[in-house]
Amino acid sequence: MNADDVRLGYTRRMLLCPVRACRLPLIRDGRRVACERKHSFDIARSGYINLLQPQDRRSKNPGDSAEAVAARRRLQDLGATRPLLEAIAALLDVGKGDVVLDAGCGDGFYLGSLVEPCGCEGHGIDISVPAIQAAARRYPRCEWIVANADRFVPYADRAFSAVMSITARQNVGEFRRVLRANGRLLVAVPAPDDLIELRGTGRDRTARTIADFGSDFELAAQTRATATVSLDDAAVRDVLLAIYRPLRPRVSAASRVTFSLDLLLFRPRGGAAKGSPF
Ligand SMILES: C[S@@+](CC[C@H](N)C(=O)[O-])C[C@H]1O[C@@H](n2cnc3c(N)ncnc32)[C@H](O)[C@@H]1O
Ligand SMILES: [Zn+2]
Repeated sequence: MNADDVRLGYTRRMLLCPVRACRLPLIRDGRRVACERKHSFDIARSGYINLLQPQDRRSKNPGDSAEAVAARRRLQDLGATRPLLEAIAALLDVGKGDVVLDAGCGDGFYLGSLVEPCGCEGHGIDISVPAIQAAARRYPRCEWIVANADRFVPYADRAFSAVMSITARQNVGEFRRVLRANGRLLVAVPAPDDLIELRGTGRDRTARTIADFGSDFELAAQTRATATVSLDDAAVRDVLLAIYRPLRPRVSAASRVTFSLDLLLFRPRGGAAKGSPF
C-alpha cells in the first residue's frame, strides 16, 4: 500500500464534515473529500485537507506562523527534543493496532515519529496551514487536517485508541467523544524548568491540568521528561521563535537550554464494558 492508499482508508472510516451541524462522513472522491450533502474539500498536493470553516478562525492566518514552524523543526532536527519523544513513546506505548490523534500537532514531529515506525494509524490536526503543510510533506503515511481543535474535532465518536496533546490544545469534551472507552489520552504541559535559562522558573501546571480533565478522565500515570542541551546562538534564536518570544536571550552562544515536559497519561472515566472492543 502506498501513502495515498493508507490515507484513503483512513478518510473513509472516520473523517466528518465540519460544515455547520452537517457531520456526515467525508468520502474520498479523487482529489477531494465530500459528504452526501455535497460539501466538498480539496486534498492538497502534499496530501493534507483543510477543513477549517470561516467561523473557526479569528485571524486570516491562525495558529503558528511559517517562521515558528520552521524554527521548531530545526530544533527537532538537531535532536534537542528527542529525549522528550522517547519519554512520550514509552508512556503512550503505541502499537500496531493503534489509531492515534494528535491535537495541535504542529509540524508533526511527535505523531510522525511515533506512528510511522510502528505502522499504526496517525491523524494530526492543527489550525496552522504552514504547520500541517510541513507535517504532510515529511510524514506522508499519516493523515493531516487543518482544523480548530477547540471546536468540533472532525472525527467520528470513538474513532481513536489514543489521543495526545503536546503543549497544545486541551478540548476535554471532544477528546472524550473521539476516544474509545478503553483508550488513553496523553497530555504534555511545560514543566516548571522548561526553558528556565530563557524565561526563569515557570508554573507547575499539572494539578490544574488534572483538575481540568477530571470530569471525563482519571490520571493513570505521570512523569517528567527533561533534556538539557547545548545550543549555539542560531538555535537559541530558534527556541525564541518557536515560543513566539522575540526576547533577547539572557544566555549567550553555545548555552545550555533545558526542555522539560510534564507528561500526564489519562484514562476515560468509567472505562470499557467487559468484552467491549470500545
Ligand atoms: C506549542 S505548539 C506545539 C506543536 C506540537 N504539538 C509540538 O509539540 O511540536 C502549539 C500548536 O497548536 C496549534 N494551535 C493553536 N491553536 C489551535 C487550535 N485552536 N486548534 C488546533 N491547533 C491549534 C499551533 O498552530 C501550534 O502548532
Ligand atoms: Zn456536509
